[in-house]
Amino acid sequence: MRRPVKLEQILFSQGFGTRRSCRALILSAAVQVDGLTCTDPQAEFAPEHVDRDWLFQVNDVSWTYRKRALLMLHKPAGYECSQKAKSHPAVYTLLPDPLRTRAVQAVGRLDQDCTGLLLFSDDGQFIHRMTSPRHEVPKLYEVRTSDPITDEQITRLLAGVVLEDDPQPVRALACVRGGDHLLAMTLTSGKYHQVKRMLAAVGNHVAALHRSQIGRLRLPADLGVGQWRWLSAQDEALLTGTAQHPND
Ligand code: URA
Repeated sequence: MRRPVKLEQILFSQGFGTRRSCRALILSAAVQVDGLTCTDPQAEFAPEHVDRDWLFQVNDVSWTYRKRALLMLHKPAGYECSQKAKSHPAVYTLLPDPLRTRAVQAVGRLDQDCTGLLLFSDDGQFIHRMTSPRHEVPKLYEVRTSDPITDEQITRLLAGVVLEDDPQPVRALACVRGGDHLLAMTLTSGKYHQVKRMLAAVGNHVAALHRSQIGRLRLPADLGVGQWRWLSAQDEALLTGTAQHPND
């Protein structure tokens, strides 16, 4: 049997500050469990119960307990994926404080001007699983180009193009034309500015770039620009290849 966990410890693990500030939050009657205010920082809860999407409120905001933080954000344009953003706000400013205190990291990057599906986590193993070149997780990009896309350009993107800093050619796993200026391109590697540089290498130019899918996980249509949500177990299985997308 696992030992019961104290309320103060639960809040601390979820990013609500130092143990002392978690204790102060509870004592100030800001925390509710099962709809009831709990002012005892030492109140104990069964870990088996807490692990199962336990619900609590802090200052009237509802939270679900998560042992590991795994989440997705619909990234807007105009945000940098860096912790120390230079010329635009950081994507981290779109997340609530407890997630930032838990030190979630963006899983890979999207350029400042790119939009779409961006994952975050505080689980090093998960981040490694998603970003390691060995796992070749496919990512689907919707590309709008400045010039019309030619058959020859598609053939070259699929065959492989050489980027200036690496003699090893990089190729698209799939390239589907969706219109004169629209291309759905799947990549399994994630080099710096890869889509933009590949399109430049074949003589075109990226006018807009949106990531709509990672693995089999699609950016949900109801996740608004700038919004985030937790990943479900099904989402995680779609990412790691152990589940099919329901519409596939
Ligand atoms: N390729 C790019 O050029 N930019 C991104 O943000 C992602 C892939």
